[in-house]
Amino acid sequence: MSKQDEMKRLAAEKAVEFVPENEYIGIGTGSTVNFFIEALGKSGKQIKGAVSTSQKSAELMAQYGIPEIHPNEAMKLAVYIDGADEINHSLQMIKGGGGAHLPEKIVAKLSEKFICIADESKYVSRLGKFPLPLEVVGMARSMVSRQIVKMGGQPELRIGFKSLHGNEIVDVRGLDLSQPLTMERQLNEITGIVENGLFAERPADLLILARENGVVELI
Ligand code: 5RP
Repeated sequence: MSKQDEMKRLAAEKAVEFVPENEYIGIGTGSTVNFFIEALGKSGKQIKGAVSTSQKSAELMAQYGIPEIHPNEAMKLAVYIDGADEINHSLQMIKGGGGAHLPEKIVAKLSEKFICIADESKYVSRLGKFPLPLEVVGMARSMVSRQIVKMGGQPELRIGFKSLHGNEIVDVRGLDLSQPLTMERQLNEITGIVENGLFAERPADLLILARENGVVELI
């Protein structure tokens, strides 16, 4: 296992301690979350059910006997565990590297507590090195892309990829993300963008960050 994967595994295992028994929880998407699903399954902790944010996570949950519920069945989720592509010191994030940021944002907003699990490479002082994913309705892709260029961004269609809801993903480099909350809102005002990958309105409440010399909890 690579050093980075080992750190992802350590953060994921620590997160299991924050899962309350007999509650509904949310489970994100990605390689860090895959370690979490495995650790939760092996822990023997009993939860009422979990909302998953992708087919991949749902399949892994089933493999480890974690019961899945539909988001519409849950009034609220006690905790949401997910990774990030970048997370800053205010615990605002870029997500959607796996193209699942729309369901992830819905589940994050349903959850009382959002715990982000990450290795140290994800922790940044400024968001924006990682391209920002936009989920876009197919017929609006060119129109949205032109708007993004006007805003100073360089859009690139994620070729051969469709989101869970059948939309396209456009990855954007070069936007000024120094005001993440303003940019999150501004992007979602553009007709044709279903959701963008900035998590500033709903940042994480806790970051479990794995470093080479151990795991730290940051709020
Ligand atoms: C998926 C996500 C993931 O949380 C993000 O891409 C991090 O993935 P990984 O844990 O594989 O580094 O937002 O849409």
